Order: sequence, then C-alpha cells, then structure tokens
Amino acid sequence: MTGPELKFKDQVVIVTGSSSGIGKACAIYFANQGAHVVVNYSSNAEEGQNTLNEILNKGGSAILVQADVSREDDVLALFRETISKFGRLDVLVSNAGLQKDSPFLEMSLQQWQKVIDVNLTGMFLCCRAAARQFIEQEKNATETSHSELSIGKIVMMSSVHDVIPWAGHVNYAASKGGIMMFMKSISQELAPHKIRVNSVSPGAIKTPINKEVWSDPEKYKGLMNLIPYKRIGTPQDVAKAVGWLASDESDYVNGETLYIDGGMTLYPEFADNG
Ligand code: BGC
Repeated sequence: MTGPELKFKDQVVIVTGSSSGIGKACAIYFANQGAHVVVNYSSNAEEGQNTLNEILNKGGSAILVQADVSREDDVLALFRETISKFGRLDVLVSNAGLQKDSPFLEMSLQQWQKVIDVNLTGMFLCCRAAARQFIEQEKNATETSHSELSIGKIVMMSSVHDVIPWAGHVNYAASKGGIMMFMKSISQELAPHKIRVNSVSPGAIKTPINKEVWSDPEKYKGLMNLIPYKRIGTPQDVAKAVGWLASDESDYVNGETLYIDGGMTLYPEFADNG
C-alpha cells in the first residue's frame, strides 16, 4: 500500500484475535491505511489465513501468527515474530476475547476461568509486551527522531458490558469491567512515557460472537429495543473508531473509553418510562 494520504503508512500494528469479527475488520482497516499488520489467531488457522489473504490480495502487508493471548510464552513469541519481521511496533489493538455464557448458579470454574484468562489476563500480557517494546525502541531511537507525539498506542477492545451489568454472562461482564480499570490504571502509569492507552466499548456488532441473537428475527427485534439508533453495528463501525484512537489525531486522548453502541448505554428503556 502506498500513497501520501494513508494514515498508518509503514506503521506496525498487531491486532490480536483478528481471524474474525471486529479484530478482522481492524486488521483490514489498518492494512488499507498502509500499515504492516500482524494478524493473530488462537485456534482457527483457516480463518486467520482468510484475513491474511484478504489483506495480501489487496496489496497490503501482513503476516499471520498463531498465539493464545492467555499464554505468556505465546504472547512473547508473537511480539518476537513481529519485531523480527517488521523491526518495530507502533500500535497494539488488544482485541482477542470470547464469551462462555452460563447462568451464574450453573457456571463452572472452567467457564469463569477461561473468559478471565483470555479477556483480562490476555490483555495484561499483550499490553505489557507492547509497552516494554515501545519503551525499548524509544531508548534506541536517534535524538532527531524524537517527537512530541505518542511513541506507541494501545487500544483495548472492551464492551458496553464494562458498564452494563449482564445476567447470564457474569464472567464476560466481570472481565470487561476489569479491562476498564486496567486500561485507566496503565494509562496513568504509561502516559509519562508518552504511551497512549484507550479502549473502545462496542455494543451489539454483527459478528459470530452474537450470531444467535441477530440471526433470529424475534431476538433481533428484542435487540432493537436496546438500540436507540435502531440498527446493529458493523465491525467497520468499530474499526474506524479504533483507527482514530490509534492515530495522532487523538494524541491528547488518554485513558478514555469510546462507546460505539448506537446509544445502547443511554438507558433506552427510559425513553418512555420512569
Ligand atoms: C457482546 C455481544 C453483545 C453486545 C451487546 C458485546 O460485548 O460480545 O454478544 O451482543 O455486547 O450486549
């Protein structure tokens, strides 16, 4: 990808969990904007390959790396491969996440643990690796290459369920609520290093994670009662917001959560009640 108008020309971007859904859209977005993209998947190699092919077929630059973000060795290897291939890192989109739904009374420790491990511990491992890399490469930068702008950007994938309680999904909601304070705390800690950390919180976005809802006409109708804007979101809606938070256009934005939810967090049930 070439052209002066490309927002992320030659920047290196890791998008965890980019074999499908929002992560995939983010990987494609950054590649279209001129970045070298590290596409990551945990278990579905074929889907990971599809994302990679979509990028390469359009003339983009990307590699595919398998890593389970909840495993420290995998995460370290993911970052090592990124640096050995592209030489640096500019943006981490810490996106990998999953749901293992169950009524609370029946939730197994395994269901709880898996979601916390991937959604929250995975966030910790990836963000720590990215921050260490940003600081390391800044140390090695030449005097003249220092600028006033951020030396590295992290965007975490949270959810409206970092503020909306969600019965039947307490592991997921707890992980996302955890991300909120994790994000704000490391943002406070890393800002003096000129590393920016923010998150996006999507509402209902049409992806495999909630297919059960949007593919069923009755459930879809119910969902619309929760969305004042009266449409389901697209992965591209989220990718564009991630792009803004990862760009220098938002250079003074630190520790913020951007809700991309068609108004889902506006207490829509109060529109004609209360
Ligand atoms: C969940 C989706 C859900 C949406 C709105 C997301 O974080 O992953 O399954 O549709 O929140 O409730």
